[in-house]
Amino acid sequence: MAAIELEAVEKRFGEVRALAGVSLSIASGEFFTLLGPSGCGKTTLLRTLIGFEAVDAGSVSVGGRPMTQVPTSQRNMGMVFQSYALFPHMTVAENVAFGLKNRGVSAADCASRVAKILETVHLAGFGDRTPEQLSGGQQQRVGLARAMVIEPLVLLMDEPLSNLDAKLRVQLREEIRALQRETGITTLYVTHDQEEALAVSDRIAVMNQGQVQQVGTPWEIYHAPANAFVASFVGRINFVDAEHLDPGGAPGQIAIRPEDVEVSTEAHEDLGEDLSLRGATLSSTFTGPVVSYAVDCGPAGQVHAERHSPAAEALIPPGTEVFLRFPAAALARYDRATGRRL
Ligand SMILES: Nc1ncnc2c1ncn2[C@@H]1O[C@H](COP(=O)(O)OP(=O)(O)OP(=O)(O)O)[C@@H](O)[C@H]1O
Ligand SMILES: [Mg+2]
Repeated sequence: MAAIELEAVEKRFGEVRALAGVSLSIASGEFFTLLGPSGCGKTTLLRTLIGFEAVDAGSVSVGGRPMTQVPTSQRNMGMVFQSYALFPHMTVAENVAFGLKNRGVSAADCASRVAKILETVHLAGFGDRTPEQLSGGQQQRVGLARAMVIEPLVLLMDEPLSNLDAKLRVQLREEIRALQRETGITTLYVTHDQEEALAVSDRIAVMNQGQVQQVGTPWEIYHAPANAFVASFVGRINFVDAEHLDPGGAPGQIAIRPEDVEVSTEAHEDLGEDLSLRGATLSSTFTGPVVSYAVDCGPAGQVHAERHSPAAEALIPPGTEVFLRFPAAALARYDRATGRRL
């Protein structure tokens, strides 16, 4: 049975349709991510789930139980916020214990559960500090501990890592994922960082303007995007008008990821089903494991390509004539007007 079910959920703020008919079905134990640009409705969706916002239409149910009439305090959900939202005047232990005290857990029980969860999030011994005596990463571990200590049915996380530096973000996302696997807790995670979404999720819903664009595994979202929005939001992709690449072929836009474009200083022989373009390098940028090229292909526009584990010859100087090969298996076509995959 689905742990979380949203059916045609609508939420308006004045003129803004923050959720425009969202239907989602999230399985028990799943790590499910909402991914989308700023303002697409991610936070609003979490807030309607936990009950901070009432829906205008549609339904939300958790564990088969309709949530409409259930107050937040009885929804048994834990939430982790981007801003940590810790109580500054309380110690770490008091912050974590807050939800337990509200649920009438005895003081002794409370103390042992707090100690245990602090150990789980690598904060054993930090219980007597106040939040201001902690780093950002440590504060968010407290946020996580506070949400998990109540053993909620569902864990909601709203951009929990976006206030942290890049290295810590990667470390903490691995910890969150490991903890989620261990506990098996159904998790709805929000991010606008596509790499983060790909790295941690069982499935992802890509959202735009209050609507779900596609639901799929990270692999499906990256390799079989349903439309041009998903293709360009998740990872980098080139769009070239079909008339430049495949004159006489079907119309539309042809899309290819930079890592699939093959760059050569010599013309390709025997293209078979593959397509090709000729251009001149604008830049080739070496970043260690990868060389990225920007190639000016005249009327076909600029094309980005990448070569991984590059050899020294891959550092092609700007202004060099190059030949781009687009392997047929890596190509997708999209309708120019609707963005739909053809
Ligand atoms: N309380 C509110 N009053 C008016 N408009 C709101 C309110 N909350 C959200 N909105 C609007 O609803 C839309 C969705 O907002 P939401 O906060 O859900 O986006 P988001 O996807 O979480 O974005 P971000 O990545 O920036 O956090 C936005 O256009 C926002 O301005
Ligand atoms: Mg938000």
